[in-house]
Amino acid sequence: MDNFVFYNPVKILFGKGQIANIAAEIPTDAKILITYGGGSIKANGVYDQVKSALVGRNVFEFGGIEPNPHLETLLKAVELIRNEGIDFVLAVGGGSVIDGTKFIAAAVPFVGDPWDILAKNAPVTAAVPFGAVLTLPATGSEMNTSSVITKWETKEKLFFSSSLVFPRFSVLDPETTFSLPPRQIGNGIVDAYTHVMEQYLTYPVNAPLQDRWAESILKTLIEEGPKTLANPTDYDARANLVWSATLALNGLIGAGVPQDWATHMIGHELTALHGLDHAQTLAIVLPSTLSIRRDRKWQKLLQYAERVWNIVDGSEEERINEAIAKTRNFFESVGVRTRLSDYGVGLETIPLVVENLQKHGLAILGEQQDVDSQVVEKILTLSA
Ligand code: NZQ
Ligand code: ZN
Repeated sequence: MDNFVFYNPVKILFGKGQIANIAAEIPTDAKILITYGGGSIKANGVYDQVKSALVGRNVFEFGGIEPNPHLETLLKAVELIRNEGIDFVLAVGGGSVIDGTKFIAAAVPFVGDPWDILAKNAPVTAAVPFGAVLTLPATGSEMNTSSVITKWETKEKLFFSSSLVFPRFSVLDPETTFSLPPRQIGNGIVDAYTHVMEQYLTYPVNAPLQDRWAESILKTLIEEGPKTLANPTDYDARANLVWSATLALNGLIGAGVPQDWATHMIGHELTALHGLDHAQTLAIVLPSTLSIRRDRKWQKLLQYAERVWNIVDGSEEERINEAIAKTRNFFESVGVRTRLSDYGVGLETIPLVVENLQKHGLAILGEQQDVDSQVVEKILTLSA
């Protein structure tokens, strides 16, 4: 096992009715800014729950944060916070609202152009404290330090990470997610699944506990995903999806093991270029990545085939092929298509993706640092 430092201070308030308890988590004299997206929280009653939990408190609001949140929008919230002397932010929404809020929190005290935090890895040295009310199980943003932001003007989608942008607390009430359309539930399942695969499907380092944690999340997603799609208001199935998605990317399963993330980095470029949902890009890229990089991932692919999909018959090559096919079929079965052509994207995108990865300092990817331009080209060609 590799050396690691594990730190995660996020307080989780899980379950029905937990929004009512947020006031106790926010300093009583705080000037609070509620950040949210395009209005789903107003339609499903989450906004009303938040407002009644904060009755009598000094509350401002900032709505309109887009999916794949835009720098240009977030900077308006930064200005509002600076002008009003706001000192606590409450993100209410999916990964985009929480990621956007992390950026806002870091940008407020930042001296200089805040885009440098992403474009030039400028260090984050302070951040406004914030909490989150999660309404979409997918990204793990509610319990991690990452944030992915899109600069609309240049169509760049970049990420930053800082322990200063851990949420102080996150409310995970599965009932707030009942209003999600099937497309977003499928997206959430695929995103969480791929987060596990990025940290698990690499090469063995004798870390059986991390492996079994990862496999148990994958198996839970395979079992509970279809249930929660078929019965969106089945509380238990949804609760299992929510907690799986959070644990898939809160740092625990990836501590002490190699990590890949090539699928995500290629996927971010596809979203920036073509506007695909984050999870759609992962469904396109992951099966091909496993296939093209099978030599480097051989042992873990065999373990994955056996332990996650119960594939024990056939040659090693056959078992691996079957495991990759099952992965693709699972994504399709939860409604997320797995081919570039399903989204009207042609092979002419490949040189653009390669060029943009280079531009963003991501020319070499993967747990073995062997995913270069040629490999990216092969992966995307196989995803046609
Ligand atoms: O904007 P509103 O009106 O709220 O609607 C949203 C949005 O249209 C809607 N939605 C959210 N909760 C809902 C709901 N609709 C009905 N009922 C609810 N309860 O769903 C749509 C998508 O929301 P979004 O927040 O964009 O989705 P998601 O949570 O999948 O977040 C995706 C973003 O997170 C980034 C992605 O790149 C993408 O920008 N990621 C962040 C990560 C992290 N912070 O660690 C890791 C991930 O790999 C990912 O890259
Ligand atoms: Zn993801």
